[in-house]
Amino acid sequence: MNAYLILHGPNLNLLGVREPGVYGTLTLEEINARLEALAAGLGVSVRCVQSNHEGGLIDALHEARGWAAGVVFNPGGYTHTSVALRDAVAATGLPVVEVHLSNVHAREDFRRVSLIAPVCAGTIAGFGWRSYALGLRALVDLASKD
Ligand code: DQA
Repeated sequence: MNAYLILHGPNLNLLGVREPGVYGTLTLEEINARLEALAAGLGVSVRCVQSNHEGGLIDALHEARGWAAGVVFNPGGYTHTSVALRDAVAATGLPVVEVHLSNVHAREDFRRVSLIAPVCAGTIAGFGWRSYALGLRALVDLASKD
């Protein structure tokens, strides 16, 4: 069975209480549970990891090379700043989908820039927790079809 890494970046551990008007009311645990249920329905599995630290996210990406078929990655604020995370995504050689709960293009100008997007298979933003679900579906679909 193909396994996928769901990787959540900084401050996403506070989902549910953090700016719910922007990020929704579901907690990270609730989102992960929905993704696990979706994965089961798609015949794959997911491993969900969150870190507030750039190095922790880089370690998770490196480790994913050994077991994952792809990564659904919300880099949070590091999206807009981190060369090191971009390099780690490129180094995995895995298909990575960058996802955002909010529509980053409809917010502050600095959120329109992603250092990560150019090394990803694609980007999904603005659909709340469903951005992750769509990212997982895209990876599973990519793995099975031309
Ligand atoms: C976010 C968007 C980022 O700009 C922000 O820093 C986050 C969350 C999102 O999921 O909408 O932490 O990645």
